[in-house]
Amino acid sequence: MIRSKMISCGSYLPKKILTNKDLEKIVDTTDEWIVTRTGIEERHIASVEDNEKTSDMAYYAAQKALDKAGLDGSDIDAIILATTTPDQTFPATAVTVQHKIGMSANGFAFDVQAVCSGFIYALAVADNFIKAGQVKRVLVIGAEHFSNILDWEDRTTCVLFGDGAAAVILEADEDASEGIQDQGIISTHLHSEGEYRDILYVDGGVSSTQTTGKVRMNGQEVFKHAVKRMSEVVRETLEKNNITSDDIDWLVPHQANKRIIDRTAKKLNLDSSKVVLTVGKHGNTSAASIPLALCEAVEDGRIKRGDLLLMESMGGGLTWGSALVRW
Ligand code: ACO
Repeated sequence: MIRSKMISCGSYLPKKILTNKDLEKIVDTTDEWIVTRTGIEERHIASVEDNEKTSDMAYYAAQKALDKAGLDGSDIDAIILATTTPDQTFPATAVTVQHKIGMSANGFAFDVQAVCSGFIYALAVADNFIKAGQVKRVLVIGAEHFSNILDWEDRTTCVLFGDGAAAVILEADEDASEGIQDQGIISTHLHSEGEYRDILYVDGGVSSTQTTGKVRMNGQEVFKHAVKRMSEVVRETLEKNNITSDDIDWLVPHQANKRIIDRTAKKLNLDSSKVVLTVGKHGNTSAASIPLALCEAVEDGRIKRGDLLLMESMGGGLTWGSALVRW
């Protein structure tokens, strides 16, 4: 069978760091409140002075992933870029990255919009293109400039998010066997539920207000759904593959809130030492959060070739999903 192997990853975080102490000067909040409720200590913010765009961050991350794999843009058949904060309404941010890395018109590039679940959705789409035999190498990117859609007077949301990008390269392995032993994406699981689209949303858009809008959220409702849905989708993934949480080497969760991650891990009897946590230093970077966490743990040597990874996320929509991957 064909399997999508993850052959490399690369990440980019803007230089500017905004700490909780900095936020104390902007809104009525405290470092203690933010750390206790979310685990977040600081986040990176894209440079306004340098006009640092989502496509720039995505490009830097993609180029690093290409360098690590010893490839260049001409080796890539498709780019699937997950973002909620594109450079423009159109064209897709992915085509800007395509142009910058020098990928030819033999392939294609497009964006996926599933907010914080965007990377898992993009991974699933890319995996299915590969399994269908339509492409051999795909650059999957999560990139967000979330600071531009935050209401910096709303303390209930502006303390939670950050900016950044990360990319993985998937390559078709045409000789893989069924089951969980071989490297690559073993299964993906996607869900959405439009009934709850108004508990986390942006209050603007092209066809409604003709403005970009700002993030609005019912935090407690989102929290409840996040723990419930992410625990469910993890169970679904384990059952589908006839494994238990003991088989998982690393949980690489969406980094929204340490309390959500802790509760989800506890519900699954997963030891906290098996959880990759970056929310403290990155905040919630939406579609970029899982690949950023993945890259960090790969680069510092925690995640090793052959490790079994479980990635899971939930975001606005509501959308949620998971991916079981042998690194
Ligand atoms: N600083 C200080 N006080 C604050 C702040 C702040 N930044 N924000 C809210 N408060 C106040 C509230 O006004 C409230 O005050 P009151 O009691 O006088 O009315 C009090 O703190 C408690 O507010 P709650 O909303 O009940 O706080 P809660 O414990 O639920 O924590 C939080 C809020 C952190 C937003 C939590 O609900 C949460 O994490 N929800 C999930 C949200 C999330 O992660 N969204 C990201 C996108 S979705 C995803 O990625 C999974």
